[in-house]
Amino acid sequence: MNKRPVIIDTDPGIDDALAIAIALFSDELDVRLITTVAGNVSLKNVTNNTLKLLNFFEKDIPVAVGAAQPLIEPLVDASNVHGASGMEGFDFPEPKTDLLLKDHAVNAMRKVIMESEEPVTLVPIAPMTNIALLLAMYPEVKKNIREIVMMGGSAGRGNKGVMSEFNVATDPEAAKIVFDSGLPIVMAGLDVGWSALVYPQDSEKMLDMGKTGQMAYYLFKRYRGGSFNTGLKMYDSCAMAYLLCPEMFKVEETFVDIELNGEMTRGCTVVDLKGYLKKAPNAKVCTAIDGEKFREWFLESVSRCI
Ligand code: RIB
Ligand code: CA
Repeated sequence: MNKRPVIIDTDPGIDDALAIAIALFSDELDVRLITTVAGNVSLKNVTNNTLKLLNFFEKDIPVAVGAAQPLIEPLVDASNVHGASGMEGFDFPEPKTDLLLKDHAVNAMRKVIMESEEPVTLVPIAPMTNIALLLAMYPEVKKNIREIVMMGGSAGRGNKGVMSEFNVATDPEAAKIVFDSGLPIVMAGLDVGWSALVYPQDSEKMLDMGKTGQMAYYLFKRYRGGSFNTGLKMYDSCAMAYLLCPEMFKVEETFVDIELNGEMTRGCTVVDLKGYLKKAPNAKVCTAIDGEKFREWFLESVSRCI
């Protein structure tokens, strides 16, 4: 069976690192391109981290650099969660700079999509600035995009604002462009990310899984996306889990809009599960996850990595 062509848009980021590893070593996904965007830390750092990861994983995937800032507001990063470099806690090899394309991420995505023999799945696990720019500059790409499977948003409370999730809240205008695009969207938000947990006993098991497991163990010691003892949140791996093991999710088709103007709610994903707004569904929202199934799948996926 053909592997599914995907482009990963990312801001590593400790949870991004594991999501990228799982995608690269899966039998089902063909990672055609990785694009970087400012988010967890600066564009320079997320790009460096991506190139270090590809060197570490021994994978020659082309990388293209994207947006250094959200569309409208300045970047407020998440270095408090991931450390100053974005991947504190492990001594990675040098960045594999020969993987860097000269093209901007938006142009590189357009090229991969338009030249693909089958529709491409976009997997943004970061603020969606690059995706919004792609759709605004080159709307013709829509005809060869299979779907967008994103980590972001929340039907409930937030992790950046009271009601807003980091990726969407960092660039709400970009998220609105994506949700208004008419493309098939799968939203793997905090509603599942908060239950996609890795516990200390899981981290101990990863120590014996080879170098990716060992890397994860030491990164998790530093990661502040939850607590090492009560469970670390593998937000970005939820997007990969949807692609590779969708049966672990409860999914509801509904209308999602992005609040841009709320004084206290800007960046919130308004997930209209009860149809109050009487708008046609524009997204499949993952509203629940089998946490035990996730843990088994996550450990099995990491064990398949280098
Ligand atoms: O809210 C979680 C998201 O924000 C994840 O993608 C994490 O890496 C951060 O970017
Ligand atoms: Ca991320």
